[in-house]
Amino acid sequence: MVTTNPVPRFPDGFLWGVSTSAHQIEGAVDEREPSVWDVFTAEPGRVRDGSTAAVACDHVRRHGEDVALLAGLGVDAYRFSVSWPRVRARGGLDFYDRLVDDLCAAGVRPVPTLFHWDLPAGLDWRERDTAERFAAYVSEVVGRLGDRVTKWITLNEPAEHTLLGHALGIHAPGLKLLFDALPVAHHQLLAHGLAVRALRAGGADDIGIANSHGPTWPASEDPADVEAADFHDLLLNRLFADPLLLGRYPDGIDALMPGDVAADLQVISEPLDWYGINYYAPTRVGAPQGTETDFGGIRMPAELPFSVREISGRPVTDFGWPVVPEALTEVLTAFRDRYGDRLPPVVITENGCSYEGVDDPERIAYLDGHVRALHRALEAGVDVRGYFVWSLLDNFEWAEGFARRFGLVHVDFATQRRTPKASYAWFRELLREQRS
Ligand code: BGC
Repeated sequence: MVTTNPVPRFPDGFLWGVSTSAHQIEGAVDEREPSVWDVFTAEPGRVRDGSTAAVACDHVRRHGEDVALLAGLGVDAYRFSVSWPRVRARGGLDFYDRLVDDLCAAGVRPVPTLFHWDLPAGLDWRERDTAERFAAYVSEVVGRLGDRVTKWITLNEPAEHTLLGHALGIHAPGLKLLFDALPVAHHQLLAHGLAVRALRAGGADDIGIANSHGPTWPASEDPADVEAADFHDLLLNRLFADPLLLGRYPDGIDALMPGDVAADLQVISEPLDWYGINYYAPTRVGAPQGTETDFGGIRMPAELPFSVREISGRPVTDFGWPVVPEALTEVLTAFRDRYGDRLPPVVITENGCSYEGVDDPERIAYLDGHVRALHRALEAGVDVRGYFVWSLLDNFEWAEGFARRFGLVHVDFATQRRTPKASYAWFRELLREQRS
């Protein structure tokens, strides 16, 4: 279903882009150091289809073709991630140097994320010095790319990396620490703050972070459900945003964090030039039920003080995530109301859905609905400056392997053939209309 009703006009200068991440597309594992994801995916049973990202989209070798796809799409910007394990290998920054040159030559603005979950194997976010090492790596990257890269993202979704990787053990490094994972959150936040300082010292002045957020809806008005939903909201929407934007943790959290928390919060709350939100779907949450619950294929353990409930009456993606565009407007207006003038301009750094097929009307409907919902947030006065689709290419979807396809471009993983989907043509047309 290609809608004929044109998307309303976004302001001049609004940044339209697509996103990817290093581990999910690059391949060429033998040209870099191993990451926690290489270690994790080598363990049997970790990835649904038993795959690894050893080749993935073979992007390191095929980046010329991928830059041509970006140019053909007509995006202003491309959000990719720099692999810390690749930068640690001899000559590792050369690849990003070439990629950035190619993007600039194609008229596509490079927007690197400096950490998208692929921690070098042997490092551990439970250790404070991982944050300091991260800042040193960031200095090296800005020193090499900062003459051409003008927009930077420190971390991708520290909330998911903490929850899935360190609390529930579903992602690398596979730790099941539950609430003992909180120091992992603190050290990533500290890494972010130190990275902001390192970037500014290297001359950067357009810096953001990409956090996952979405409305949490209580399953009912029952106080037990409301309390559980408030707690889920705290974990997803406040645990990272409060320290970044307000310079403090939500009540009661300080005491659970390691080190000199007050001093660290000064670093963590270095002012941001903009705030990135990755939005996919809202979550309906109720009181714990004493059993595991299913969250889009993720088993949420019974010990958690909340349970995830189904959102019925909505279409769902292949991942089982409900399609609720108006929840994007809701999360943005809620952020504006919660943080007021402490909230810098917002960029949607990821939004997308997994569906099979090169003819993908469901993806078009999803993106169309969410772009309109974004425009409603603008009309409601939220200062939104950009929108990035997840993702340019079908890729290695973490614990789901290659079983979930989020791309605007189909990838045949046997031949590496790229085929633009109907949604690619739709997005290209949207960009054309926006500029006409
Ligand atoms: C992550 C991506 C991931 C996408 C879809 C986001 O949480 O940043 O790496 O592929 O969601 O699951």
